[in-house]
Amino acid sequence: MMRVADRIAVSPARAVTGVLRVPGDKSISHRYALLAAIADGPSTIANYAPGADCASTLACLASLGAIVSRTPAPDDGDPPIVTVQGRGLRGLVAPSGPLDCGNSGSTMRMLGGVLAAHPFASTLIGDASLSRRPMRRMIGPLMQLGATVTAGPGDRPPIVIHGGDLAGIQFSPDTPSAQVKSAVLLAGLQATGETQVIEPASTRDHTERALAAFGATVERQGRSIRVRGGQRLVGQALRVPGDLSSAAFWAVAASALSGSDVTITDVGLNPSRAGLLAMLRRFGAQVETTIEHDWNGEPVGRLRVRHGAMRDLVIAPEEVPEVIDELPVLATLGTFGGSVTVSGAGELRVKESDRIAELVTGLRAMGADAEERPDGFCIRSGARLTGGTVHANHDHRLAMAFAVAALGATGPTMIEGADAVAVSYPAFFDDLARLACAS
Ligand code: S3P
Repeated sequence: MMRVADRIAVSPARAVTGVLRVPGDKSISHRYALLAAIADGPSTIANYAPGADCASTLACLASLGAIVSRTPAPDDGDPPIVTVQGRGLRGLVAPSGPLDCGNSGSTMRMLGGVLAAHPFASTLIGDASLSRRPMRRMIGPLMQLGATVTAGPGDRPPIVIHGGDLAGIQFSPDTPSAQVKSAVLLAGLQATGETQVIEPASTRDHTERALAAFGATVERQGRSIRVRGGQRLVGQALRVPGDLSSAAFWAVAASALSGSDVTITDVGLNPSRAGLLAMLRRFGAQVETTIEHDWNGEPVGRLRVRHGAMRDLVIAPEEVPEVIDELPVLATLGTFGGSVTVSGAGELRVKESDRIAELVTGLRAMGADAEERPDGFCIRSGARLTGGTVHANHDHRLAMAFAVAALGATGPTMIEGADAVAVSYPAFFDDLARLACAS
């Protein structure tokens, strides 16, 4: 591997082997920080996700008056422990300038839910990628709850939220989205009466588990989630599991390269995120999980993945929500053997980039037989990839997916814009160097 400025050359590998921990879960870190800021008393968050996205959430909360500090962790190599001094329900204060959510859709949408109940105006801005992402999905329900929300053309950022007294609603989103569900539940927690979200398909349930960890009662029945407004949260000592979406890169690489054997420890094994593991088993990999801990209501343990058969993998629309972030790396399985076909995944077009178009363009540049479809793609194994030059297009998950595909090529792959990994997995290329066995 050779790094020059923002370009990294990834060499082919024979296998990936080793034991490692991956960074703290991004989704869970955002939620712990947000809930800590509106809880009573201080919270400590160990293993807080080290990427830029979760730093954006902390910076926004600090601008809203929540004192945030970092102290070294007792164990060498662990990230600093984050302490957030909670300001209590509806206790945040007006920021003196715009709140910069950076690249993070989760920050903008979930913080929007928190701010909807605060009686001042906040402007939420983001980088070029976030400024292209649709926000109507969260603006609609927050206005129904009683907030005043305006956005830029096409309901895109910047967003101005003028919050106030909210009244609970019943909300059935058209598109499954954990961010939108969470925004509504966070607003509903600060509203009068009860708020109910009925999901069209189940999405990750970290907010529900986190609310319970902070002492709130959340009633769940199938795809219905109800929260009563006015429940006060109590500051907690929390520990964030490793991010299964980051582990996915090694799990896929191990599934794809013969002779591979990778174990990831202290990783989150929440069933609402574990669709990836079922897919890898279907592809033919040997996947073992052992739950060893319960950290604040989240199952955590060990994941071992070894190469097995390589079968065709078809991912159906109803399976998409539980692997939405893993689809780019799952696609790369089709470049090693078998094929990967995905449909019903139009949402990928409005992620950090148009992940359907950019993925297909990148994999083709490396020699893949890749077909773009309106709501998905088909990647068929033919000859081995040759390698080549690809662009991550400011999308962390694409940068890492291309790196995994590069391991199976006959020649090196130059990844332009590789620094995008800093959004969720700053040490990704260091871990790659440790796990990859030269071919
Ligand atoms: C997330 C939900 C998903 C996911 C994103 C993180 C979350 O987005 O793609 O990376 O933490 O709730 P949507 O809610 O837009 O599906």
